[in-house]
Amino acid sequence: MSSPLLRPLSIGTVRLKNNLALAPMAGITNAAFRILAASGGAGLVVTEMVSADSIKYGNKKSAKMLELFPGEHPAAIQLFGADPSSMALAAQAAERAGADIVDVNAGCPVRKVLRSGAGSGLMKTPQLLADIISRMVKSVKIPVTVKFRIGLSAGENIGPLLARVCEEAGAAAITLHGRPASQFHTGPVDLEAMALTAAAVKIPVFGNGGVNGAEEARAILAAGCAGVAIGRAAVFNPAVFSEISSALSGGSPDPAAPAARIKLFLKFLELNAGIYGEEHGLARARKLVGYWLKGLPGAAGARAAFMKLKTLKEAEELLIQYTE
Ligand SMILES: Cc1cc2nc3c(=O)[nH]c(=O)nc-3n(C[C@H](O)[C@H](O)[C@H](O)COP(=O)(O)O)c2cc1C
Repeated sequence: MSSPLLRPLSIGTVRLKNNLALAPMAGITNAAFRILAASGGAGLVVTEMVSADSIKYGNKKSAKMLELFPGEHPAAIQLFGADPSSMALAAQAAERAGADIVDVNAGCPVRKVLRSGAGSGLMKTPQLLADIISRMVKSVKIPVTVKFRIGLSAGENIGPLLARVCEEAGAAAITLHGRPASQFHTGPVDLEAMALTAAAVKIPVFGNGGVNGAEEARAILAAGCAGVAIGRAAVFNPAVFSEISSALSGGSPDPAAPAARIKLFLKFLELNAGIYGEEHGLARARKLVGYWLKGLPGAAGARAAFMKLKTLKEAEELLIQYTE
């Protein structure tokens, strides 16, 4: 598997089989999706962001989001919050839940999160971010990592400064989204900002943003990042990690890839049914089916039919045509 760019990587004491991670995505990276990404070749998977305050106040839905399953490790639980003591408590809960790593969300641009000073709000308050990280580091044995952006608005690169602050506070790795918070998830990613940030610290920096395949992954690694975190491309295709691994190791594209993708989707439906029940699990998969069928013959009709399915057997009957 090893190539100069693709390689195993350690985050603190946690050894990853490769340097390709699944980026955290609210509403997407639930347990079923994480297991899928792990079997699709991700070296690390990350949960949806979980509110530290909700964990502190015993919210059942948030507590359920901490549940990890065999088959997804190594896995990081991502927390958001702006209060160091709540974040430290929630980090302990994440450690008890079996997380291999606990990650701080310092990049979310959503107003509801920003209002409390959390998410990318923490980029405006580096001292608070450092306090949060060091409290968490003192409270758990597992590595503490952090995800932030290159800046708050276009043209800004505070990545190197924030990276040094986080490293000094005890963070074991960084994921850097190469777009400013003002751009949410669209627009170009700034490779130079990634390179400068990676060069500013000794801990591994995962570059993130706009990776659809091997070409973009290669560019991020060549810019000096130790790893790559992939978000939306994995939603379209959870096997993107093994496809990139193979390409970076000199392999050629697999002609059976579309069929393998649908087989993974069937596996995802099964996992979802196990976790949420058959009907609810299928309902939760509705937002993904359009991505997964994209480009396949009769995709629009199959997608419409999928919306009405109630059982796994019906799903299998509908999708089996694409697995051969
Ligand atoms: C639907 C969605 C939900 C997201 N939720 C989170 C989240 O919970 N925590 C986080 O740090 N980033 C979140 N992100 C940002 C992604 O982790 C990632 O930084 C972003 O999508 C850019 O990577 P990509 O271009 O590979 O998708 C989310 C992105 C999307 C599209």
